[in-house]
Amino acid sequence: MSHNLLQGKKGIIFGALNDQSIAWKVALKCHEQGAGIVLTNAPIALRMGEINKLAEAINAPVIGADVTNLSDINNLIEKSVEHFGGKIDFILHSVGMSMNMRKGNPYTDLNYDFTLKTMDISSISFHKVMQAAYQKDAMNDWGSIAALTYIAAQRVFPDYSEMADAKALLESIARSWGYHFGIKNKVRVNTISQSPTRTTAGGGVKGFDGFMDFAEKMSPLGNADADACADYVVTLFSDLTRYVTMQNLFHDGGYSSTGVTQTVIQQMEKQ
Ligand SMILES: NC(=O)c1ccc[n+]([C@@H]2O[C@H](COP(=O)([O-])OP(=O)(O)OC[C@H]3O[C@@H](n4cnc5c(N)ncnc54)[C@H](O)[C@@H]3O)[C@@H](O)[C@H]2O)c1
Repeated sequence: MSHNLLQGKKGIIFGALNDQSIAWKVALKCHEQGAGIVLTNAPIALRMGEINKLAEAINAPVIGADVTNLSDINNLIEKSVEHFGGKIDFILHSVGMSMNMRKGNPYTDLNYDFTLKTMDISSISFHKVMQAAYQKDAMNDWGSIAALTYIAAQRVFPDYSEMADAKALLESIARSWGYHFGIKNKVRVNTISQSPTRTTAGGGVKGFDGFMDFAEKMSPLGNADADACADYVVTLFSDLTRYVTMQNLFHDGGYSSTGVTQTVIQQMEKQ
């Protein structure tokens, strides 16, 4: 249902890989609310071709960019401003990848070359995107920038491994840039800490099903799904949240504030 919450706004969405991706749902909902969009993903993801279906559905150009590559990012920002014929109102960073997880290396036996790559892709890339937009003066006043994160930045989830550290850095980068972009031209920067969600990246975490089931039982509202996450992102890109900045916002059905639930107690008592 459209309320035209983003009518006339223009934004860049990183990270739509397939129709399970959180970014995919965000792109659909932003379009539904009247926004113009540029889609971007890594060259390897573009070769998979799925993103073209989304691009067609929402009439958006796809501009490839490896988030670790500064010249790709600069090109993306410049081409987006050119495409929109003006500055940008919102950016979604929905990118994450752990090299060590992919190779099956546990937290106690990390390959540090992989760790640096993980940080570059999952965290420092957010800094690079914002620095490029800042230096090119590409954001409209009262714009909004958001990235997706996970509660493992605050609490230990052993199998989330080095991504926990990557998310902690990502959240810190959001706070720091929230300051600088706020002073510059009232642009807000936040991270959204989402429930476990069945996607390609999510499924890469060891024991994901158990993880998801546990979170479901520990959340009074149940896990928030990707569609609900997309709804929340739309509010952050709308003019209704203009003074929310430098926050890590939990979108998790109450999980982050819950010590235990009756369901979990009952399950423990059964054993
Ligand atoms: N799925 C979950 O349970 C969950 C929970 C909380 C937060 N998140 C976060 O949500 C975000 C989106 O993940 P998702 O779950 O939608 O999975 P996804 O696999 O659909 O999205 C991850 C995206 O990152 C992109 N990417 C990887 N390396 C890249 C690079 N070098 N350059 C450009 N793009 C690159 C991939 O192509 C992909 O589109 C991630 O930051 C993830 O950590 C996911």
